[in-house]
Amino acid sequence: MVQLVALALLTLERSPNLTLRSTQVRTYFQSIEPVIRAKCLPCHAPGRSAPFSLSTYDQVRKHSDLIRVKAMTFSMPPTLGESDFGKLSKSSKMTDSEIVDLQKWMQAGMPRGIGEDRPTAPIMDWHLGKPTKTISLKSSSSVRTEGPRYWMTNVVEVAIDGDLKAFDIVPEDRKALQSVTLAYITPDMSKVLPKIAESFGSVSQIGAMPIGAWAPGYKSWILPRDVGLRIPKGSRLIVQAHYQPLGRKTSPNMKLGLYFASSPQPKQAKWITMSKDAFEIPANEAVSFSLQKVLVRPCRVISILPEARFYCSKIRLMAESGTKSKRVFETMAWNPYWVGNFAPQAPIELGANTRLSVTFNYNNDERCSINEGKVPTLVRSGKKLGDELCKMHVLTAPL
Ligand code: HEC
Repeated sequence: MVQLVALALLTLERSPNLTLRSTQVRTYFQSIEPVIRAKCLPCHAPGRSAPFSLSTYDQVRKHSDLIRVKAMTFSMPPTLGESDFGKLSKSSKMTDSEIVDLQKWMQAGMPRGIGEDRPTAPIMDWHLGKPTKTISLKSSSSVRTEGPRYWMTNVVEVAIDGDLKAFDIVPEDRKALQSVTLAYITPDMSKVLPKIAESFGSVSQIGAMPIGAWAPGYKSWILPRDVGLRIPKGSRLIVQAHYQPLGRKTSPNMKLGLYFASSPQPKQAKWITMSKDAFEIPANEAVSFSLQKVLVRPCRVISILPEARFYCSKIRLMAESGTKSKRVFETMAWNPYWVGNFAPQAPIELGANTRLSVTFNYNNDERCSINEGKVPTLVRSGKKLGDELCKMHVLTAPL
């Protein structure tokens, strides 16, 4: 991490058109506040997911050292995806020039300028409107008060079926609930149920079908006209939630909103999964795995849902057709705490015979934060917390 900051500083200082000795420094209200408002306040505002607010000049000033580090290492906002096909719904990352402005402003002593701190917009519960089905998910235990972040998987005994168009989640405590993965099991999969509660990570490892992932501040996928994701009759929901202990007692509960089409949709969305099931990462080694799948029919990419854990550093999904190759999705720096849907804002259309090719990079050495302060040991794929995962799900709709 420290290395990365130094590198970023170096790049900025060397680049001739990004010089830090520019004559005019703009003030907080001229150039910093609008960026913070657009890119940080979705989470760093009172009552929202992040641990502290950045909604006033004083708060930004107080956290300026950390903000600089986070901005320059591209680790905040925690928006990890980039695509050659255009914006992904999550990518509100800071641009290079915004980072340079921030840097200049900090070096000039953080001038305030003329302006007033503005209130933040109220939190909207259901930004897609009222769901067709709202499910209250209640847990008998409260969120742990101490210790590391942790995952909990629940099977929800609620019958769902129909053509799903979208979903959304409203947590009872926005700071405690960090992310959610949703899946379903069809009636004939019920025999896997007893094992589910202890499993961590991939819901598809236990034979469940993915629906999608959610994290605070991010939107889930929405299917286009005429397309639905069919959930067969008698299916049950699997909800895997990821919590952050806050040092106080709080609720793990949430409301889940499902948006079903009023009638069966003429076209069906489909998850394409590429997965490496058994692998090892030797101590002090870096490895990479590539997986491929050829599309039989032309399709639109609706959502990208990668699954990997702590040893993964980078994931890249390419679409290859003839001699052409384009990035559908790439992470800046993989962070297992921020799973979610990476949904393209404009449709990504891929022709028949396009080859989807995904590469996962893993580091099992001192560069990996989970190895900090300990001697690296052999890592295996598996379902436990210290195990690794290598899966890429792509939600597609027929053209
Ligand atoms: C999608 C929600 C979200 C957005 C958007 C977001 N943050 Fe955060 N931020 C968090 C959460 C949650 C944490 C605490 C947990 C973590 O570090 O992952 C955090 C932590 C931080 C920290 C503290 C890190 C530390 O090591 O203690 C800083 C600094 C920060 N964010 C700055 C920013 C800045 C600057 C922006 C905008 C450019 C931003 N964040 C945008 C959710 C967000």
